[in-house]
Amino acid sequence: MYIEAVKLHNFRNYSQLELTLDERLNFFVGENAQGKTNLLEALFFAATGRSFRTRNDEELIRWGQDSCEVAVRVVHKRGAEKLHLLCRQNPKQKLYSSNGLQLPRADYLGRLYPVLFTPEDLAIVKGAPQQRRKFFDEQISKIYPIYEIELKRFSRVLRQRNRLLKLRQEKSLGSPELESWNEQLAVLGARIMQRRLFALRRLSLLSRLAHRRLTGGEETLVLQYQSAVPLREGAGEDELQSGILAVLREQARREARLGQTLVGPHRDDVRLLINGKSAHLYASQGQQRTLVLALKLAEIEFIRGESGEFPLLLLDDVFSELDGKRRKLLVESIEGRVQTMLTATAAERFAFFRRSGKLFTITRGEVFPSESHL
Ligand SMILES: Nc1ncnc2c1ncn2[C@@H]1O[C@H](COP(=O)(O)OP(=O)(O)O)[C@@H](O)[C@H]1O
Ligand SMILES: [Mg+2]
Repeated sequence: MYIEAVKLHNFRNYSQLELTLDERLNFFVGENAQGKTNLLEALFFAATGRSFRTRNDEELIRWGQDSCEVAVRVVHKRGAEKLHLLCRQNPKQKLYSSNGLQLPRADYLGRLYPVLFTPEDLAIVKGAPQQRRKFFDEQISKIYPIYEIELKRFSRVLRQRNRLLKLRQEKSLGSPELESWNEQLAVLGARIMQRRLFALRRLSLLSRLAHRRLTGGEETLVLQYQSAVPLREGAGEDELQSGILAVLREQARREARLGQTLVGPHRDDVRLLINGKSAHLYASQGQQRTLVLALKLAEIEFIRGESGEFPLLLLDDVFSELDGKRRKLLVESIEGRVQTMLTATAAERFAFFRRSGKLFTITRGEVFPSESHL
């Protein structure tokens, strides 16, 4: 799958843009604050209906305007499709359409899969558990849009259960109200854990292979799901549910005292181990980069395995951060298979990489195709 053409209207600092893209490689070069990330953000937005930089869609609308539009022409294996997204401020609305036919968000999703890699992704290794959960949850949502809804439902139950614990503290213990929240927390929590465990098994294998290639076979990467709930290999949803309920019972007094839910997927983490050692604690800068790159390459294969098509790869400012060897391995992994958009501040960053593809220059919200071959 690839994007053949993109059209923007009042998106960030673009007032009007029409661009034909290369099926494989697209290089965007420009000074800081010219619109490179904004363009990748627009493509990500067309694919997912949200930004990777903000939860507030208003920020995407060009200052002084009331709405923004992103349209892309996507070529799938099964044929071409025009996706269109309109985001308006007054009244607040977001309209999704495919080939001119308006669709609910849930039906719109899953037509275009982006894999994004930015310098902030290093936080997957060194950041808080929340950042790792977010990373893995996003992989799952891309493939199973319903997962996003399940996560929202779970958060709602969690909030209400926490409210009850805060309000009633010890008095909430054993109350029918708490019991009912426990039941819901266990049902929704087990579903989420089940999906995470499934995705993690795949991603663990795929990232181990990618990581081995990137390190010349010297390092072994293992991803391990961590939870207060006992995880038996091959456990089904029922077993996870009773596991959650059992740990909730053990923690009941502590939870009532703290006014917080201590058990569930919102507390879980994914351990990243390199040669058996925690990358969170010990990985060097270089190892962190390699690890994240391996995770992204795994994500590409995961999406292909689940959806049958290669995703779109968006590399914002990261290519120049990789050393020569890793650039080469990255290129070998994607070349000719994955449509890729790369940004950098200087064209020579792409020099050795360019055998094919298109080079563009971005200046103040305008994109110029550049004929000059590097
Ligand atoms: N809603 C908006 N309307 C107009 N300009 C915007 C909006 N949001 C951001 N910008 C401008 O976009 C520019 C940043 O673009 P960005 O793509 O992040 O730069 P870079 O090329 O460094 O990646 C800034 O100059 C910022 O002022
Ligand atoms: Mg940028």
